[in-house]
Amino acid sequence: MNQIKIDLSNLTNFISEEQIHSLQSEIDRHYPTLFNKTGKGNDFLGWVDLPSQFDKELFKKIENDVERLRENSELFVVIGIGGSYLGARAVIEALGHQFYDLLEEKKYPYIIYAGHQLSEDYMAELLEILEKKDYSLAVISKSGTTTEPAIAFRILKNHIEKKYGREGAKQRIIAITDKQRGALKNLADREGYPTYVVPDDVGGRYSVLTPVGLLPIAMAGFDIRKLLQGAADMETHCRNATTIAENPVITYVAARNALYRSGKQVEILVNYLPNLFYLTEWWKQLYGESEGKEGKGIFPAGVGFTTDLHSMGQYIQDGLRIIFETVISVENSNHRVEIPLADDDADGLNYLAGKRIGYVNHMAEKGTVMAHIDGGVPNIRIVVPEINEYVLGQLIYFFELACGLSGYLLGVNPFDQPGVEAYKKNMFALLGKPM
Ligand code: PA5
Repeated sequence: MNQIKIDLSNLTNFISEEQIHSLQSEIDRHYPTLFNKTGKGNDFLGWVDLPSQFDKELFKKIENDVERLRENSELFVVIGIGGSYLGARAVIEALGHQFYDLLEEKKYPYIIYAGHQLSEDYMAELLEILEKKDYSLAVISKSGTTTEPAIAFRILKNHIEKKYGREGAKQRIIAITDKQRGALKNLADREGYPTYVVPDDVGGRYSVLTPVGLLPIAMAGFDIRKLLQGAADMETHCRNATTIAENPVITYVAARNALYRSGKQVEILVNYLPNLFYLTEWWKQLYGESEGKEGKGIFPAGVGFTTDLHSMGQYIQDGLRIIFETVISVENSNHRVEIPLADDDADGLNYLAGKRIGYVNHMAEKGTVMAHIDGGVPNIRIVVPEINEYVLGQLIYFFELACGLSGYLLGVNPFDQPGVEAYKKNMFALLGKPM
């Protein structure tokens, strides 16, 4: 069942319903091409039916590896960059205890990330920790040739082999990569690491529901079957519902593209829960790499409120009027904390005594939306009942499908990323990489 609702009531001062609905005929042309795989970049549309076609044997394989590794690992290092770590991190941080590393009793390894930057200090400090803890790792790279994770893996491979011996290390390393190509595939075959395949027709940023995301998510103790179920139910809903009125993906796409065409070039994804920070990072990558090309595309930005109301809030309220916001509005918290009554009311907060923090957060959200509308910032609300595996699965599929459709409306191929090569070319030349 679809659990995502889109609220467009805060757009009325900015664009008309007609402007939004006028996009339906364009959408009618493009939407079926995602499902029948005839649009631009159609060799990368494997993610569209991935939830409904999911190979159930893969669940068992992942669960067996998790069972085996959690016995001997306090830490699990996920080596990957871009689409090869952001989806996993988004789900793990959204669902996880926010102080997991400090919990005394841990049923699952604590997840650490590497190979997503080139900081020497980060690597040195990570090695310092890995010296003292038992760990295992997954090296994730679809191409198998990306520099950042390749460097991290070379260093950690040395470390883990020194620590546990070459045979011991093999029991602690998992490789997730292409079926047949790339340096990582060759290395994994040579060393005999357990491997998982990133399907050919699924690009990095659309790969969270493949082993790329699922293995680390399961390793952190979360239910990947429920995650996939959420995505599969959203897929079914989206296959059958094709209008702005009945399909949240199409509602969102029509609204954000109508806003873009009216001059709003920046979309800020807003959340009010710090555990959704990496969901925003995942979304920024998905939309930035998919849409930003050929001199076009909505610039995807992100803020976490109320924290960023004390920093970016000023710009959003009063800066250049090229912004719209998309708020992920979560109706229910998973815990309950009430504000206590104080005898002296020295801080003047007794008017809130007995109220939940979540209630104050919701009022902050409402007040902010009203202020931003007054300041000239239109607002789309994506409403979900709560954060759990099932809802996250729905959100992931929702955002992926909306991204593909938006790219088609823009006239670009949402599944390539030619611009990413530019920095690599310069860096390799500067490093003297042999041609
Ligand atoms: O979406 C993409 O394709 C990229 O962001 C990749 O995920 C990222 O560059 C990592 O690539 P790879 O998995 O080949 O190491």
